Amino acid sequence: MASKGLQGVVIGQTKLADIDGDAGELIYVGYDIDDLAHHVSFEEVCFLLWNGRLPKQAELTELQRQLGSQRALRPEMLELLRAFPRDADPMAALRTAVSALGLYDSDADDISDEALRRKSIFLTAQVPTLVATFHRLRSGAEPLPPRPELGTAADFLYLLNGEEASATRVKTMDAALVLHAEHGMNASTFSARVTAGTKSDLYSAITSAIGTLKGPLHGGANVEVMHMLREIDESGVSPREWVLRTLDEGGRVMGFGHRVYRAVDPRAKMLREMADEVMRESGDAHWLELSDQIRAVMDEEMQKRGKKIYPNVDFFSASVYTTLGIPMDLFSAVFAIARVSGWTAHLLEQYANNRLIRPESEYIGPRGLTVEPIAQR
Ligand code: SDX
Repeated sequence: MASKGLQGVVIGQTKLADIDGDAGELIYVGYDIDDLAHHVSFEEVCFLLWNGRLPKQAELTELQRQLGSQRALRPEMLELLRAFPRDADPMAALRTAVSALGLYDSDADDISDEALRRKSIFLTAQVPTLVATFHRLRSGAEPLPPRPELGTAADFLYLLNGEEASATRVKTMDAALVLHAEHGMNASTFSARVTAGTKSDLYSAITSAIGTLKGPLHGGANVEVMHMLREIDESGVSPREWVLRTLDEGGRVMGFGHRVYRAVDPRAKMLREMADEVMRESGDAHWLELSDQIRAVMDEEMQKRGKKIYPNVDFFSASVYTTLGIPMDLFSAVFAIARVSGWTAHLLEQYANNRLIRPESEYIGPRGLTVEPIAQR
């Protein structure tokens, strides 16, 4: 019997992340996400995912140097981004730009472990610059040159907003990247592994992943959450009325529910915690208060309906990213900035122990028909 959406189907083994959906727990390579988000940087998580252990100081310093020195865009890429329509969807723009990066890589099709590791660092360095540069160009501002001495989170906020972010904002951005880096066999990771399974190149696999993450049921949900918050805010309808009406119409409250979690997504818990601190600094807790009201109604309603639907990673990231000055329609692209580390780590696994991923399907169409001449059809 076909499993719709591959629910519950184990399609392979990984050493990268494990999710306990009932307990609401997530680990990366043996470390609890809570411990990582509080105590290590995004660059340390990149090293952990790519190498199976946390880095020593010298290794971290070298990775930071490599990432910083590979952040700048080559002139042809800048010209390409200038040619993009200013109203292009940011995830469509990112998907196209990453695909184009492959054209300028003379050994794009080299899928040896050494080449893949080199390209994983390159892509993780380039994606934040692509997102920030696309945004500045569409806003009519000149792109800024990256500052290699800054970490990934700090330089992204600088490239995006044109000014250095406060320590609180950088810490919040960095922790958000840690929380979004990896999540097992989610849809975009799976699509990347299917592409790599044919021995296609890394750029094609990451392009597949970005196209998949773009969907509103996956990485696109955080943009939809912000749309929902603004819609409720402008509607004059109370959060309770809005949620009840949405549920009664059979709609989805974005940022809630998950294929695996049957408890609160631990990343949502962390983001809610982080939101307090960064809101205090900004002085604007409006979206967070509205989010809390929506959550309270959903908790009550889902309990009444006997459904285990809880906030997921996208629900509170919307408020946190807004407070960091990230425009709403860039939220999914920010998700991709983090997840490119998880995607490339999964691809190192896939290419190292590859078998073409080709499931079966259950044929339910007609059989035994005979072709009639077209005049008789
Ligand atoms: C991410 O997979 C990952 O790991 C993804 C991710 C990652 O890090 O990579 O965690 C990131 O994608 C988080 C999820 C972001 N998406 C959203 O917030 C979109 C809203 N949520 C959903 O549409 C839904 O919850 C999914 C798609 C996330 C999961 O859906 P499933 O597992 O396919 O479950 P389903 O659609 O079959 O729903 C089961 C029931 C249904 O009710 P019934 O038809 O059984 O009566 O739960 C209901 C659904 O209507 N339901 C919701 C709901 N989500 C599910 N009802 C209201 N609001 C919701 N958000």
